[in-house]
Amino acid sequence: MRREFRWPRLLTPNGGGIAYGGDYNPDQWPESVWNEDIELMRRAHVNTVALAIFSWSRIQPREDEWDFDWLDRIIAKLGEAGIAVDLASATASAPMWLYERHPEVLPRDRFGHVVNPGSRQSWSPTSPVFKEYALAMCRRLAERYGDNPTVTAWHIGNEYGWNNRHDYSDSAQAAFRDWCERRYGSVEALNDAWGTAFWSQHVNSFSEVLIPRHMGGDSMVNPAQQLDFERFGNDMLLDFYKAERDAIEAICPDKPFTTNFMVSTDQCVMDYAQWSDEVDFVSNDHYFHEGESHLDELACSDALMGGLAQGKPWYVMEHSTSGVQWKPLNARKRHGELVRDALAHVAFGADAINFFQWRQSRSGAEAFHSAMVPHAGADSALFREVCELGESLQALSDAGIQGSEMERSRAAILFHADSEWATRSETLPTMKLNHWHDVRDWYRAFLDAGLRADVTPLRDDWSGYDIIVLPTVLVLSDADARRIAEFAASGGTVVVGYATGLVDESFRVGLGGYPGAGGGLLRDVLGVRTEEFNIVGDEAQGEASAVGLSNGACSRLWQSVATVADGEADDVAVLATYEGEGAEDWELGGMPALTRHAYGAGVGYYVGCDLRREDIARFVEAEFGDASIRADSRLMHTRRIGVDENGNRVAFDFYLNRGPKKPVNVPEFTGVPLVEHRCAPVAGVAHGRVLQRNGVLITRQRLD
Ligand code: GLA
Ligand code: GLA
Repeated sequence: MRREFRWPRLLTPNGGGIAYGGDYNPDQWPESVWNEDIELMRRAHVNTVALAIFSWSRIQPREDEWDFDWLDRIIAKLGEAGIAVDLASATASAPMWLYERHPEVLPRDRFGHVVNPGSRQSWSPTSPVFKEYALAMCRRLAERYGDNPTVTAWHIGNEYGWNNRHDYSDSAQAAFRDWCERRYGSVEALNDAWGTAFWSQHVNSFSEVLIPRHMGGDSMVNPAQQLDFERFGNDMLLDFYKAERDAIEAICPDKPFTTNFMVSTDQCVMDYAQWSDEVDFVSNDHYFHEGESHLDELACSDALMGGLAQGKPWYVMEHSTSGVQWKPLNARKRHGELVRDALAHVAFGADAINFFQWRQSRSGAEAFHSAMVPHAGADSALFREVCELGESLQALSDAGIQGSEMERSRAAILFHADSEWATRSETLPTMKLNHWHDVRDWYRAFLDAGLRADVTPLRDDWSGYDIIVLPTVLVLSDADARRIAEFAASGGTVVVGYATGLVDESFRVGLGGYPGAGGGLLRDVLGVRTEEFNIVGDEAQGEASAVGLSNGACSRLWQSVATVADGEADDVAVLATYEGEGAEDWELGGMPALTRHAYGAGVGYYVGCDLRREDIARFVEAEFGDASIRADSRLMHTRRIGVDENGNRVAFDFYLNRGPKKPVNVPEFTGVPLVEHRCAPVAGVAHGRVLQRNGVLITRQRLD
């Protein structure tokens, strides 16, 4: 059951508009700075801040001492200035006195060492003692600010799982046993699911079930146990979130709840499809990936956010105005990139644009992380850009963009948290699998082909799409295999990637040929059967490290050794075979690498090997291209559809330069330009523009 969608009100006359602001940490500054903060926020059109995320030790400096005065004062100042507060539960980082008094709340690492306090989330999600302290804080905040009109949303925790997702403490051990008992009911069912006949792992009771602590040397964890441990870590944190939310909701039921997800390049750590059911609005922290994939990666992460939000608007809780400070090399953003990234998030359905953080810290681990007000102060190019963005967002708010929803694509790439965890297993034919990265490669290949795909959680309803793509969806339950087969049988197009459907939800391999999902059902959809995998790479010196295909494509990691299934020869079209020196050397020559199979009223494609992005793009264009394809795939386009005050449908069109370095033309747009960022007119063409590097054009038009 999903909670009802509720969006935080702003303090604007009608409560609407795009929320704009950032994490605000006034407790890091003397109060003399606060008035300047408010003055600069107004100058930048800031209308919302996330407050008190890390303020526990300031609010409760000692176990029996509470100090809300400073928080009262800053909330009052913000309210007077028309700036709404997304108030945190303040529990992301606990005070030292708590750890001193209750060291048992600390998590342990897989070697059994205690994780020391001093950073963030140094607490065990299964510690009842810690939960008691956290819930006491939640209740205090709800009692004090539940009726405060400036507080319009609750920000529970912060980036759950960032530091304590894998906890190997004794309390985790006990909770895992209970979790397994709830999941399996009987110890026989667990033995069967985990395949414990292997390596004498049979257990006689749940009290013998272990969390996967370090077992010496390079010993490998049972992958089914590991996958359950990932699910368990997710569930414990989700339970913790729910307990905090419910404690506040019992006192203050009328304000929406969220917690910030971590969906970006190498972070998609929790089963966010499950979490999305438990928040009133979905929010995300997105940190850009430097280099040529910058905008594409942002778009792909945002597409998954759109999927998680099920079409509703969602909230950018954090992104950066420029460089971060937590990578080996922290590239800054070029001028124009701050505005472009923020508008790109709006293009992909965000109705809130917030940064980490408002004022750049002077001390601490994040002093060199960019912010809205940099060390240089307000007289800076960066702050001027923050103000420019505020104006653009105001123009979009005035044009009524808030609440409009993304136009859906024809194709959905399916994301699956279980598969994301499972592809990290060390027990697979290669340790180089990565489901989320393959989702991104496919996403980018669609863009390269002039198409745009959505990204949708496997567990949700994707039956309304024409095409679904399953890239490295390693784990498929029988039920999921059936849903996929039914989708194809009733006219859908299914694209199955090379390492999809190899194991079930308990990491049991499907037999009779790969992919064995659904007892062979997925093979029926494909009409193709794989007996072995051929794994190549530069590590094997003197061996061919790439295998060519007859259509000019190239595979560099994984080739399924496949044959057309018996009796399917008439229904299977072999689109490409393995061919060339590498193929001959590995005895793959002439075997099917890419196939299409008619199944019921639909089609099943098998992409039996990893491909370069350009090869995937050619496949997408050849099989799914249509006349609507944009001539220049360097132009990214999205549309949001809303309703104006008279009930008419309106479209907001977004055009972005994917270049990334060269200008790109918007040859002919319709509607009235609302925002033109790094966008030049074309002489003599009223409805033409040139988007410079980082350029964006946003237009509005009535549809009926
Ligand atoms: C060792 C062990 C076997 C098996 C193989 C796998 O030789 O003795 O049980 O684990 O490695 O390569
Ligand atoms: C995360 C946290 C923030 C901050 C940023 C820095 O998103 O939520 O508190 O540490 O990272 O990028």
